[in-house]
Amino acid sequence: MTAIVNLLFLRVSQVGKSVQSRVRRAVYGLPPYSPGKPIWEVEQELGLQHVIKLASNENPFGPSPKAQKAMANYLAQLHRYPDANAYTLRRAISAHCDVAWDQVMVGNGADELITLISETFLAEGDEVIIPHPTFSEYAFGTHLMDAKPCLVGLSDRFEYDLEAVQNAVTTRTKLIFFCSPNNPTGTYIRKKEFEQFLATLSSHAIVVFDAAYSDYATAEDYTDGLEYVKKGCPIIALHTFSKIYGLAGIRVGFGISTPEIVGFINRVKEPFNVNVLAQVGAAAALDDREHVSRSKLGNESGRNELYQAFESLGICYLPSMSNFIFDPHRRTN
Ligand SMILES: Cc1ncc(COP(=O)(O)O)c(C=O)c1O
Repeated sequence: MTAIVNLLFLRVSQVGKSVQSRVRRAVYGLPPYSPGKPIWEVEQELGLQHVIKLASNENPFGPSPKAQKAMANYLAQLHRYPDANAYTLRRAISAHCDVAWDQVMVGNGADELITLISETFLAEGDEVIIPHPTFSEYAFGTHLMDAKPCLVGLSDRFEYDLEAVQNAVTTRTKLIFFCSPNNPTGTYIRKKEFEQFLATLSSHAIVVFDAAYSDYATAEDYTDGLEYVKKGCPIIALHTFSKIYGLAGIRVGFGISTPEIVGFINRVKEPFNVNVLAQVGAAAALDDREHVSRSKLGNESGRNELYQAFESLGICYLPSMSNFIFDPHRRTN
């Protein structure tokens, strides 16, 4: 009996080894994504009740009521596949952003779009410029495709150093990621500085401008990158329904770029990447300007209240253009 068990163990460990050797090198070295813990897990772990989750920058005002109603009305049609082209949603986004329909792509969250962009453009040896610290998914897409991440640190005030980004561009640079407002620092790229940067940009690099938190930005010199897409610059502007629209649970994000870039990225996506409820809910949320403005105003007053509290308690913070506030003394990996 012991001999049989030993033999079985040997077989299983050999299979394990042979699977390992077949996994793509890039996947083997990939660190798994570490999401903010769900409320139930923290409650269970620490024996607490009524935990408030701040980890994922979700909207405390909840989902758009219009989106909730539209999704509820759609439930009887769930036997149908989603529209693979997400026509109605893309039309709604194109009208909202004042761009052509074929300049809009939608994904299962902006996360999926970041992966699709990486799959579309990157191959082994390509270089990708990524600010540091920032949202981890840019490095994920880069590693997934065996491309090389070139990290460019933010300034000592945690602002973008566009000159350093410019200096990091080489002939192998394929993508340059910007996140503005930046996760986790809440700092943003000033319009004028971004324009100066674009003027120096060589044509082989595509800028991915992640504006996931743009709806919270209040600075007059903020840009979400869209105006430069409209001017024909090689930019993909990314947005999400997970933050101000309060729809993180249904997973929808969108990107705006040139019809050519959108066309190539759409070749890579799965046919039905955005489910029907997400398509219907996101289109309705876009139309719910009352929910958006309530969320934005509520966020701004909450931010100001926190600033005052931090100041009176002597806690350091960075003024934020987003729905989170960064402690500049926090260590970032
Ligand atoms: C900067 C940034 N971009 C994109 C995302 C992902 O958005 P989604 O929920 O649409 O995948 C996040 C989520 O936290 C984020 O912080």
